[in-house]
Amino acid sequence: MPATVVLGTQWGDEGKGKVTDLLCGEMDAVVRYQGGHNAGHTIVVEGESFALQLLPSGVLYPDVTPVIGNGVVVDPSVLLAEIDAVGQRGVDTSKLKLSGAAHMIMPYHLEIDRLTERYLGKNKLGTTKRGIGPAYADKASRIGLRIQDLTDEKIFRQKLEVVLKEKNQILAKIYNRLPLSVDAIAADYLGRIAPLIAPMIADTVGFLQSEYKRGSKILLEGAQATFLDLDHGTYPFVTSSNPTAGGACTGSGLGPRQIDSVVGVAKAYLTRVGSGPFPTELTDEIGDLLVDRGREYGTNTGRRRRTGWFDLVLLGQAIRINSISELAITKLDVLDTLETIKVCVAYEADGEVFDTLPHHQSVFHRAKPIYLELPGWQCDTTSVSEVADLPSEARRFIELIEERSETRVGFVGTGPGRDQLVRM
Ligand code: IMP
Repeated sequence: MPATVVLGTQWGDEGKGKVTDLLCGEMDAVVRYQGGHNAGHTIVVEGESFALQLLPSGVLYPDVTPVIGNGVVVDPSVLLAEIDAVGQRGVDTSKLKLSGAAHMIMPYHLEIDRLTERYLGKNKLGTTKRGIGPAYADKASRIGLRIQDLTDEKIFRQKLEVVLKEKNQILAKIYNRLPLSVDAIAADYLGRIAPLIAPMIADTVGFLQSEYKRGSKILLEGAQATFLDLDHGTYPFVTSSNPTAGGACTGSGLGPRQIDSVVGVAKAYLTRVGSGPFPTELTDEIGDLLVDRGREYGTNTGRRRRTGWFDLVLLGQAIRINSISELAITKLDVLDTLETIKVCVAYEADGEVFDTLPHHQSVFHRAKPIYLELPGWQCDTTSVSEVADLPSEARRFIELIEERSETRVGFVGTGPGRDQLVRM
């Protein structure tokens, strides 16, 4: 398996870190291909827990080359702080390769993200306020500054002067804020940041292509998830990048035929942070129980996640648009105490039944879930490591997912620990 993508099939926080961790040991390179420090990956290695935002999980494995691909938006200060933090815990980050084509999150992106959310009021998107959307917007508008611009003072200043002229108008005239200074930003980015970042800059496309050619194993690590995808998610309540499998190609420079497996990670129930439609959302005590048992608070922002029942309509869509070859179901143990477990198999809207995702947003917003009810197993699965030891009701739950999605479940997570999993 030369190149494998691991991605989320829901609205993020599916426990991709656990799956990545499982695969990292056998990889030669691990690549982040989109998003930025809006992500929060928790990886437990040898009993130690690391919460990574921007660094690829591969950084924790000495034999892996971690790569930040061209599709990522990088706040260089955050990257340096993260390198410093893991470095203090003995992690060697010297092999990190950072694409010179990756765009940078600039101070005005952070400011505009916060201010836009405030201005949107009750219509806010609930972003992570990390400047992600504004940075990708500038990339699309072709006024972004890229990592490689750090190596050319003249170009950096030239670009910054042009862009800051417009941003300062926006900050002052729309948001009543003080203008930002070219000199102050240039001093920080060119004076403090550039010398530290320069040694990491690499031709990551060239590197990945040559690794691929010599048969290395490459893992492409998705951040966020399918339904937060700018194109395929629940727009506008999405992130500004493409976490879906197509984004793994554009964000890394590997071609579609170089990817031979796509692992889709799905939590045994659903969660979502921020605003947006959520047909199976639970606002009752079962929802609270899932929050408590699943510790459903953002790794990154600390926000309480919204919770809901597993949704096979969403999963089917995720499988199709990502060409998912195998599923990993995580956090099965969170359902251990439930008497009944519901699984959404279709939606009803305007008198019509949908077993695939309604393409019109208004229909999706009105969609009511049609559930299949399964008996719960009501016993502890946290120490189960063999399929045969899974309660029959839990096996039935997994089989239902496999049957309806026509996709194999490769493993099931039964707790946060590395060993708490069942290979199916
Ligand atoms: P942004 O990516 O900060 O622009 O936020 C856009 C939407 O994506 C918001 O609803 C966020 O809560 C959500 N989001 C961004 N990153 C993550 C993540 O890593 N996990 C879950 N949701 C996320």
